[in-house]
Formats: sequence, structure tokens, C-alpha cells
Amino acid sequence: MANERVTTANFRKYKAEGKKITMLTAYDYPTARLVDDAGIDAILVGDSLGNVVLGYGSTIPVTMDDMVHHVKAVVRGVQRAMVVADMPFLSYHISKKEALRNAGRLMQEAGAQAVKLEGGIEVAESVKKITEAGIPVMGHLGLTPQSVHQMGGYRVQGKDEAAAKKLLEDARALEEAGAFAVVLECVPAPLAKLVTESIGIPTIGIGAGPDCSGQVLVTHDMLGFYGQFAPKFVKRYANLHESIMQGLQGYRSEVENGSFPGPEHGFGIDEEVLKKLY
Ligand code: KIV
Repeated sequence: MANERVTTANFRKYKAEGKKITMLTAYDYPTARLVDDAGIDAILVGDSLGNVVLGYGSTIPVTMDDMVHHVKAVVRGVQRAMVVADMPFLSYHISKKEALRNAGRLMQEAGAQAVKLEGGIEVAESVKKITEAGIPVMGHLGLTPQSVHQMGGYRVQGKDEAAAKKLLEDARALEEAGAFAVVLECVPAPLAKLVTESIGIPTIGIGAGPDCSGQVLVTHDMLGFYGQFAPKFVKRYANLHESIMQGLQGYRSEVENGSFPGPEHGFGIDEEVLKKLY
């Protein structure tokens, strides 16, 4: 049925059937409604919230409270898509117990259907703990923006033999720990294909070529919300920046020249009533 909620079972089925999984980000109610109405399978409330909506230079300042606030807004706008909430920087590193508590907040307090966290073998124990509590976990390998300072910038990952082997091992460790899917960000396309063929769970690519089980993009990037730089792997499906600018500047000039509001935008009053006021 068209409006049934997308679940982890759909993810497994889609991979088995070769049906591509679609995922986009949203951080607020109106965007979530649009993405859901477009029939996208999963909505990621990414910690890209920090860059895209909160105006930070990275994802690192994003807090659990920020995530809970924005996930709640998204959940209110969604009927069908699976809502996946990113676990922000340091919310799952201190201890397994804290990782579970924070994942629990995103589910219980905010209403997400799954959480996503970055890393492989080093977070596998936390993934196990969270999934054992019944919380679906999506992994995230390759370019992991929360480690941008350790990685020395936003660059393609897994290019040499050791890094490629590590990525494969990380993907296997996540599957073994109970993850239901894994995002592969900025990974060479042939390596993403190999990972996809080597694990049973779906891969969701971003800058990882066409052979992943599905694709994700940041909605503001693919709709051209910002008229500036977008990463190489982003295809622009709209130019919102231009449309919004046209609207904003049209409003400004019509207010300045007096053509807005017109008579059709106002309300009248009985002439007799008006006369008595003078
Ligand atoms: O935070 C985010 O938007 C993400 C995607 C880029 C996968 O993690």
C-alpha cells in the first residue's frame, strides 16, 4: 500500500529485488512534507543541519538537543518515509551506555524510526548495544564529516589498498553488529560496488557511484538552495536560489514602488462607518 510506513524490512526487500532506495535530508516540517509527498523512501535528519540550517562551518557543534528539536519537526511532517536521525558528535563515543541513552532519546523523545552514526569497527560495540535494544542503526563509512579534522579535510576515502580493505572490514563489522544499512560517502565507485556486493545489508551512496543499493543527497544542495559551491557528486534538480531571489526582489521592488498591496489584497469598510470617523 502506497502510504504504509517504510521500514527496515522494505530496505532488505528493496536490496534483494534490486529496487533502488531513495533518501534525502530534511530538518524542518515543510521540507519533510515535500520530501515525503514526493515518495522518497527515507528522510535523514542529518547533522548536516549544522552546515545547512544553523550556519556552522561543520557538523561538530551540533548537539543532541539540536537534533531532538529538528527531528520532532520532521516527524510531524512525515507519513510514509522512514525518519532516520543522525547521532551528533560525541553522542555515542563516551560509552555504550551513553550511546544507547542518546539513541533512545532520538526514538522516544523525537519520534525517529532509526538512528545513524559514523564509523566502523571502533563503534561496532555501540551499534550492537543500540540494536539489541530494538533501535535500527544505519552506519556511515568513507568520508565521515564528524572526523573532518582527523581526515585533513573533506576528501575521497578508501583510495589506497589499506584504506579500501579497512572500509570493507568496517562494513562487515557494522553488518555483524546489527546495522540495517550503511551510508558510503565519497568512496570510489568500484569500491562502493564491491562493498555492496560483499554485505547483505543495503548501501546508500553519496558520491559513491551508481552501484549502491540506494542514494542520498542533501536536499538543499540538490535543489540549489544556496547559489554557491556544491560538492562534485551533487546534481542540481532545481535552482531554488534563483526562484527565491526573484520572489524576494519582486516583493521588495513592488513594496518600494507602491504596487503591492493592490486593492485585491485589502479589506473594505462601509462608507457610512468611515465618514463618522472623520
Ligand atoms: O548529515 C548528513 O546529511 C549526512 C549525509 C550527507 C549522508 O550524513
